[in-house]
Amino acid sequence: MTTDSELSAYGRRFAELYDVIRGYRDAAGEVDVLQAVFGRSLDKGATILDLGCGTGLHAVELAKRGYKVTGIDLSADMIAVAQQKKSDVTFLCGSLAEHKELGPFDGCMSLGNVINCLDNMDSLCAFFESVAAVLKPKSRFICECWNPIAVIKTPPTRVVRNYESKAGKIARVALPKWDFMKQELEIDYDIEITPPKNSAPAARYRINHHLCLFTPLEIEFCLKRAGFEQIEIRSGLPEFQTAGEDDRMLAVNCLKS
Ligand SMILES: C[S@@+](CC[C@H](N)C(=O)[O-])C[C@H]1O[C@@H](n2cnc3c(N)ncnc32)[C@H](O)[C@@H]1O
Repeated sequence: MTTDSELSAYGRRFAELYDVIRGYRDAAGEVDVLQAVFGRSLDKGATILDLGCGTGLHAVELAKRGYKVTGIDLSADMIAVAQQKKSDVTFLCGSLAEHKELGPFDGCMSLGNVINCLDNMDSLCAFFESVAAVLKPKSRFICECWNPIAVIKTPPTRVVRNYESKAGKIARVALPKWDFMKQELEIDYDIEITPPKNSAPAARYRINHHLCLFTPLEIEFCLKRAGFEQIEIRSGLPEFQTAGEDDRMLAVNCLKS
């Protein structure tokens, strides 16, 4: 039987499909860019926090390259998938505020839509403050998020994607809806898994993702309030170019004062 928590945004059902669904993105290529941006300030053995690490795609790759990586995520199911991977990463479940013992780190990243899972500006400020509290002075924070300007200019449409995995054929339909006055985007993922011949019955379910779209000015305001400086807004990884209004994802690059 499928329970509600299994179907929550990052519950077991989404967690077990995450690496397949995200497979079209090249985590190693994204880590190449991260390494270049973190730059020489991060020698081998430097400590990096991956906040909202999900299934550990970037954390595991950074650990392979010699960094001491801690990955933390609110979802126990995403962390369980990350822990199945052989790596030296320390994976922890919870929010950063719940893990005040951590740090100080030489760098922090928060990739994908982690901050879009927050509800409002108060939570965004608190999130950035918790990052500042575990970073060494002058260390770098790189944070990705949706670009509301691009989403409003060209709203997302229904997208159908098909994948092959050990679990069988996976059909995923993304159905977006939004309330731009509230800066909210919701995506329903309709997922159908057809296991290899006769091995199990087909499964169908819907998972809802609710996202808060923060503007670049709002993000900059909260970062400054939390004690970050030299804030630059770039396009998402791996491009990491000067951001434009058509870039669906942004990457914010800044230093703790
Ligand atoms: C789209 S996934 C991104 C995972 C990973 N960073 C990546 O790029 O593959 C977003 C993750 O953020 C986590 N998350 C959301 N809010 C969080 C918070 N306040 N603290 C820690 N993790 C959070 C979710 O549980 C989810 O695993």
